[in-house]
Amino acid sequence: MTLNLQHWRVERDAEGVATAILDKAGESANSLSVAVMAELAQILDGFDQQPPKGLIFRSGKAAGFIAGADIEEFTQLDTPEKGRALVERGWQLFNRLAAVDYPTLAIIRGHCLGGGLELALACRYLLAVDEPATKMGLPEVMLGIFPGWGGMLRLPQRVGPAAALDMMLTGKSLDAKRAKRMGLADECVPPRVMEPAARQLLLSGQPRRPLPALQRLLNGPLKAVVANGARKQVAKKARPEHYPAPYAIIDIWQKHNGNALAAPAIIDRIISSPTARNLVRVFFLQERLKGFGKASEFSARRVHVIGAGVMGGDIAAWCALRGMTVTLQDQSLERMGPALQRANKLFTRRLRDPLKARAAFDRLIPDVNGDGVAHADVVIEAIFENVEAKHALFKALEPRLKPGAVLATNTSSLKLEDLRTVLQQPERLVGIHFFNPVAMMPLVEVVEAEGADPDAVQAACAFVRQIDKLPLPVKSAPGFLVNAVLAPYMLAAMRAVDEGISPETVDEAMLAFGMPMGPIELVDTVGLDIALAAGQQLAGGAAAPRCLLARVEKNQLGKKSAQGFYAWADGKAKKGSAGAVPAGLAERLVKPLIDRVEQLVADSIVADADLADAGVIFGTGFAPFTGGPLNFRKNK
Ligand code: NAI
Repeated sequence: MTLNLQHWRVERDAEGVATAILDKAGESANSLSVAVMAELAQILDGFDQQPPKGLIFRSGKAAGFIAGADIEEFTQLDTPEKGRALVERGWQLFNRLAAVDYPTLAIIRGHCLGGGLELALACRYLLAVDEPATKMGLPEVMLGIFPGWGGMLRLPQRVGPAAALDMMLTGKSLDAKRAKRMGLADECVPPRVMEPAARQLLLSGQPRRPLPALQRLLNGPLKAVVANGARKQVAKKARPEHYPAPYAIIDIWQKHNGNALAAPAIIDRIISSPTARNLVRVFFLQERLKGFGKASEFSARRVHVIGAGVMGGDIAAWCALRGMTVTLQDQSLERMGPALQRANKLFTRRLRDPLKARAAFDRLIPDVNGDGVAHADVVIEAIFENVEAKHALFKALEPRLKPGAVLATNTSSLKLEDLRTVLQQPERLVGIHFFNPVAMMPLVEVVEAEGADPDAVQAACAFVRQIDKLPLPVKSAPGFLVNAVLAPYMLAAMRAVDEGISPETVDEAMLAFGMPMGPIELVDTVGLDIALAAGQQLAGGAAAPRCLLARVEKNQLGKKSAQGFYAWADGKAKKGSAGAVPAGLAERLVKPLIDRVEQLVADSIVADADLADAGVIFGTGFAPFTGGPLNFRKNK
């Protein structure tokens, strides 16, 4: 057969086993674009004429199998017809693949996500290659859409509906071993045997593992039970008016057996929803942040952190978790105890494997004398927020630094221009500003002071990517971006409390708006003393709210003192019920935040409006379905 293929290669061996290798032209990762899908249809046409003995799918890319659909194409779905055509294309093609007479198998190595997993699910067998990069998932919900190319039909058939819905509603992915355990993969093998293992499984004639009887019932007559449970779970996290897709996934699975084409009205509603458009926007914003530092050749192996407090301790632990060798310095070993305990918890929770947790702990080395400085590629200062203390430290540090090492401060409120006056090479100091809690917050601001060495700033961005955070370059200014926009928002919220609106009602107004946490609870979490100090620095001379002053005077500092605006127990605020939310309250509270974002863009503290939206979403959790504060204002 003669095929004219740009993106696929087809090989046939002497025995008639065919391998279709996807190696998308001009890209480093595979995605299922219109062209890639059309070529796959051609390949299947060819095999209709001359069926192979079996067909193996694999990737020609080092990066992984298939990352998903081509998300760029989602941005062009401007009519309902185009939306339906997109769903139909994949649904029909993968149904066709699932129906062929010859055995089929997908070798899954590296990422296999979204449409990529739907292709694999349409094969008779899935072979997962056991290596750290292998992950399988259906993350469509995170883009505000649903897995319409057979995922909602076939994933529940493979792993049972509860596990399948959990994956589809959270977007989370499985590694090779878990995929095998859950029945998603038929086999899980190390890379060196993947090809012979694939052939053997392909030609084994073995039937697919059937779903256990109970799972078959839950995927059949008892669907309503699972669906109702899933709806309740989703309702705890996402309001349908903000995030319609998870509800659509449950409906399409329950009422239409996973076939979205049977419910065209749902397709239209989801694909044309502002939420899907905005979440796709957020995806591209995230990609843009991931691109910072790419131009730099800087690569860190050793990190030295000074100050083992709330921030320094958690920064050091995070770096060790991500594979760095970390030395952690404080004034005494005792002061490091709590940080090491928290690190141990983090490793145990995140790595789930005692050997790996042990190895991470071994990479985190207490270093009272600061011997690590001389070997470190990155040195991060996270000591008390005090200029004199930081000056003394920098003076002693500088002569001991490796040439080319990044020297960074985690300061929230001090000017880099003031901190670096004691340095011989002041241009080398950069800000690497993490947020609390370090393990939870994806954003890190990389602060460029006036006249800073651009290579140092690039290297800092590259380092932030290495530890899997999102770098946002910002200019040196009070509060940078994130704290500068949060301050007027928290102030407005506390002014509302001064007016007599209850904290619960204020918080409820913003939760209904789509924020992950209410602003008053946020003040309690940050600490009322810190909020007061930040307000003095960032509120442009406005008087502090009475409700804040009164509590700080009584030493009610929030979560850390178990009492602030709320009483706190077991890490949770004890809230009473919210009153009726006054009309327009949310808009009034969010206005100063958006005004400040606009101001910071105008002042070039952040390079452009899109990056500002990205920073506020990933730094504060600002309602992602709005596409960010400036996008929200523009589209109102
Ligand atoms: P912290 O008070 O919890 O910890 C500071 C640690 O530094 C203490 O363990 C102290 O013993 C140690 N230290 C002080 N002087 C030292 C020296 N000369 N040598 C070695 N260790 C020394 O403070 P926290 O909250 O961790 O803040 C640290 C820095 O991070 C500050 O610059 C702060 O502005 C910044 N920051 C704080 C955030 C927060 O939410 N707490 C968020 C982002 C940045």
